[in-house]
Amino acid sequence: MGSFKLIKLIFLLAILRTNLGGKTFFEMLQKATKHSGFLREYESDIECIKDTLRLVTVVFRHGQRTPADTYPTDPHINDSMVPYGWGQLTNEGKLNQYNQGLYLRKRYGKLLGTVYSPDIFYLRSTEVDRTKMSAMLEAAALWRPEQNQIFKEDLPWQPVILHYEPKDKDNLLLTTPCPAYFQELDRVMKSAEIIKLQEENELMYQELRNFTGLNIRNPDDIWSLYGTLRAEPRDKTRTILAHLTIEERNIAFRVGPSDS
Ligand SMILES: *[C@@H]1O[C@H](CO)[C@@H](O)[C@H](O)[C@H]1NC(C)=O
Ligand SMILES: *[C@@H]1O[C@H](CO)[C@@H](O)[C@H](O)[C@H]1NC(C)=O
Repeated sequence: MGSFKLIKLIFLLAILRTNLGGKTFFEMLQKATKHSGFLREYESDIECIKDTLRLVTVVFRHGQRTPADTYPTDPHINDSMVPYGWGQLTNEGKLNQYNQGLYLRKRYGKLLGTVYSPDIFYLRSTEVDRTKMSAMLEAAALWRPEQNQIFKEDLPWQPVILHYEPKDKDNLLLTTPCPAYFQELDRVMKSAEIIKLQEENELMYQELRNFTGLNIRNPDDIWSLYGTLRAEPRDKTRTILAHLTIEERNIAFRVGPSDS
């Protein structure tokens, strides 16, 4: 049993392409299984467990955006967020996503090759403008067309298929359609630990209600406000954000659900 556990661990390391100290994965496996029946049993399948990278799954967030929400006392409440619109990627966000695509090309170019095909590359985002755009920007950098995939000489870009599910059906990337998530959230919010945390922070909640005109009652509300303040244009001072202590900001970050 002991050596079986070791095998599983090494297999995981090999998948992660951790440095195996110059030894091939196969040599490591041989050593680990010297006294077990494992190797003999699976000898015929040995081709399947060579140390080669076969699949990469990358999960990433969208780039910097303009605020998606507002609050009654927001100095930007009448702003149209020209030229982007509310909740959309800014140029900074676009550039960062594109550069991340370049990084992925550099890191995984050998595995991917230079010819885009839907058979080797699957791209999925949530059903949100900024995440769709972020995915497309990564793909633009990752799959700049070469040779016979160039369809217009002065355009170093090709379309890449983007998949997404409707928000209420996306149970891979969003919590929205997951009743278990909300059950668990409810359970946690009713726990003694969180009730105590809520009481300890009641003054902060009151202050934030005063500052924003929003009915801020739980960490989720703070997280949402924090996201808005962080995304607001930098030219005007972000009074409320400055007012939050580091600890309060951390609370907002720790408990918030994933932003879409
Ligand atoms: C936003 O527009 C409304 C309606 O025109 C106005 O009453 C309000 O003062 C404006 N708020 C800000 C912060 O500019
Ligand atoms: C909130 O505003 C009310 C009314 O202006 C004031 O009486 C109260 O002290 C304020 N509370 C906090 C926590 O700032």
